[in-house]
Amino acid sequence: MQNETVIVLDFGGQYNQLIARRVRECNVYCEVMSYKNSIEKIKEKNPVGIIFTGGPNSVYDEKSPHYDKAIFELGIPILGICYGSQLMAYTLGGHVDTAPVSEYGKTEITTSESKLFENVDKNTVVWMSHTDYIDKIPEGFKITAYSNDCPCAAYENEEKKLYAVQYHPEVNHSVQGQQMLKNFLFNVCGCKGDWLMSDFAQKSIQALREKIGDGKVLCALSGGVDSSVLAGLLSRAIGKQLTCVFVDHGLLRKNEGDEVEEVFGKSGTFDLNFVRVNAQERYYKKLEGQTEPESKRKIIGEEFIRVFEEEAKKIGAVDFLAQGTIYPDVVESGLGGESTVIKSHHNVGGLPEKVDFKELIEPLRDLFKDEVRKVGLELGLPEYLVFRQPFPGPGLGIRIIGEVTADKVRIVQDSDYIYREEVDKAAKAYKEENGKDAPWMPNQYFAALTNMRSVGVMGDERTYDYAVALRAVTTVDFMTAESAQIPFEVLQTVMTRIINEVRGVNRVFYDLTSKPPGTIEFE
Ligand code: XMP
Repeated sequence: MQNETVIVLDFGGQYNQLIARRVRECNVYCEVMSYKNSIEKIKEKNPVGIIFTGGPNSVYDEKSPHYDKAIFELGIPILGICYGSQLMAYTLGGHVDTAPVSEYGKTEITTSESKLFENVDKNTVVWMSHTDYIDKIPEGFKITAYSNDCPCAAYENEEKKLYAVQYHPEVNHSVQGQQMLKNFLFNVCGCKGDWLMSDFAQKSIQALREKIGDGKVLCALSGGVDSSVLAGLLSRAIGKQLTCVFVDHGLLRKNEGDEVEEVFGKSGTFDLNFVRVNAQERYYKKLEGQTEPESKRKIIGEEFIRVFEEEAKKIGAVDFLAQGTIYPDVVESGLGGESTVIKSHHNVGGLPEKVDFKELIEPLRDLFKDEVRKVGLELGLPEYLVFRQPFPGPGLGIRIIGEVTADKVRIVQDSDYIYREEVDKAAKAYKEENGKDAPWMPNQYFAALTNMRSVGVMGDERTYDYAVALRAVTTVDFMTAESAQIPFEVLQTVMTRIINEVRGVNRVFYDLTSKPPGTIEFE
């Protein structure tokens, strides 16, 4: 049975995935589709509602995306957001013009009675970002909200189930934005909310069993969230028909290799063939003398494929190769939405050429990261695996500036372990005391090894050792980030412990750089 589906029709702009996530948070399945899809393609999805996203342009620009007017005649509820609201007005005979005053940022609107504003305050703060405005709404519509500078902050035609808002209900700054989206989904589209991760896991296990039959499946397990959930799901579906190859390239965090083995190896609770390849030495050899970031990345990625291919050869032909592609990868690679490809990160640097398989399976390709985590918990994966922070495919290789050596890996692993331990301890204490997450809680935090050595003194001895850099960022999408304001005492404790416990380090820096101009990783 198909889940009730809402389509986010993407006209460009940066919020397509955020809107889709917000809809899914209401337990309604949602897909992003580019406006370049025909109306027929949209009808094929049988959507219960359609949301038009914002877009970068003015509806009058020649190059601006438009859409077939017939979409408004399908009887399917539509919510236009920002550009989407202007496009709806423009297409249906209203008028859009340059606004006398552009609105940007938090803005109070006054709402009137509407299905969209049930349980929403009469005066509520929303996030505006527009230079055009609607100065005449189409016939048959009524205005349902306004702000000081925007006479038409929301308008609708209840009978035709067409709704539009000038602001962005999907961003957190719109205080009751989520309630408005919920109202659209449940009051207007009549959704029931049948997208539940517990159902997903069960349905997906069933579907995988049917598809795979008694075939064999091979999967590369990196120990990251996506590939771990993938392995868990497949193992619950087909057990020993699955072989997971885990390449320990010696650039993992401290103890990580053993943790992965503990969960998926013989003594774990998952039934599968688990192959751990200890390729540390092989990697260190390949990386000898390599200092250039891009060539290091390339070597690590290519070597992974070679090791994987060699292991696959031992196993022989398989029917399926499983990959942990998730929905943002699908949208960003241009298959879903309209935003341009910013970068494609993959744990596995491309597909192995020499692995003999008939078909690729990607059971997580409909899920956002937070949904992948929920499925992981459903499957009984340990929390420390499920809530692991992002870790790049090239691992510590890009957190060690310059040449990678076994000794430098030891330094960065040990420093990173101490840093994470202290941050986690402080975060936990804050939460226990205040009943909420610490405001400084970073979304990603790790230690890196600068290639700098400097003079210090320890006891009566002169030292000439490395400097470790601590990085911690707060970010929503990892595209932009701020340095996190970790309390100074926590940083001091980390510094003292690293200097005392990690041989070869005599200085600790805290990286204050935001992104841009810095990236989150060091190479
Ligand atoms: P940057 O350094 O580009 O990182 O600001 C943004 C986010 O992406 C992660 N990252 C990677 N993830 N393979 C990955 O799977 C990679 O090659 C890679 N490089 C960076 C990084 O950890 C951060 O979360």
